Amino acid sequence: MIDQIRDLTDQFEKDLASVRDMDTYAAVRNKWLARETGLITASMKRLRDMPREDRPAFGQAMNELRVRVEERMAKLLDGLKLAAREQEIARKSVDVTRPGFPYPLGWEHPIRRLQAEIEQIFVSMGFRVFDCPEVETEYYNFEALNMPRRHPARDAQDTFYFDEAALRLLRTHCSTVQVHAMETMKPPVRAVSAGRVYRRDPFDATHSPMFFQVDVLAVDEGITMGDLKGTLEMFLKRIFHPDTQMRLRPGYFPFVEPGAEVDISCIFCFGKGCRICKQTGWIEILGAGMVHPKVLRMSGVDDSRYSGFAWGMGIDRVAILKYGVEDIRLFFENDLRFLRQF
Ligand code: DAH
Repeated sequence: MIDQIRDLTDQFEKDLASVRDMDTYAAVRNKWLARETGLITASMKRLRDMPREDRPAFGQAMNELRVRVEERMAKLLDGLKLAAREQEIARKSVDVTRPGFPYPLGWEHPIRRLQAEIEQIFVSMGFRVFDCPEVETEYYNFEALNMPRRHPARDAQDTFYFDEAALRLLRTHCSTVQVHAMETMKPPVRAVSAGRVYRRDPFDATHSPMFFQVDVLAVDEGITMGDLKGTLEMFLKRIFHPDTQMRLRPGYFPFVEPGAEVDISCIFCFGKGCRICKQTGWIEILGAGMVHPKVLRMSGVDDSRYSGFAWGMGIDRVAILKYGVEDIRLFFENDLRFLRQF
């Protein structure tokens, strides 16, 4: 009887030593502790065939073996779980001493920065930055700026239409700020608005179907051409060079009367004449004028009491001149080697 128990114990120790992983553990556990068929239960059943006097000692020894098997199996399971967890951690762990992956940083775009610089100059003069939509209706882009249907000035701006029926389009200029600002603010109005504009132009060294403009509007009692000139001159000196000279030539834009084309003294030769200014000493830089009375009226401003000036300019063009960039496409390629130079 004692021999039987010792054999069982030896066998259990051997089985225990053979456990390598969860699968072998489950097999050993099943072999010993399965409810009906496990070796412990099966051995207990032998009690019935024993002489009465041997039963208590055998029963007690078997019980001790059962407790031992259960305890050893539980301990083994804990060990297996711990090992599995450690393996998992080792597999997932991060080596904090390894060098990181390079994370390329962008760069402020020169046009963005120029736009912010321009806005800041006007904010310092009491103007408000005004955001206008890029998707417009024909009314804001043309009609309300005194370019009714079939007006020849519409031809000068090849427009991207979404659908002619709904008259929705991509704005061709930022002069839409005149209408939006006067509709939402009562005079006095001082607004500056910059952003993307779109025209059906080819994409080459001097053209792009998308480029940037800034428009400025001032409406108040007693605004004159003198205010326009003074504001413009101050702005141009600040954005280009304190010695920059300016001249106005008569120019036609349907939404201003009188209208003017504005030149600055060539920033490359200082007016002496060079390749860039085609030997004239002047560079055309923007369009300007006094807001047309019809435009004031259409946006709900009393033109007998108020007047205003407006002007608009290409930001890319300023960037090209200021930074001496020969190809406008460089601004849209976003090559960091180019952008980092600014
Ligand atoms: N919108 C005109 C253009 O895109 C530029 C312009 C001319 C704006 C005269 C003005 C202005 O505000 O008064 O060519």
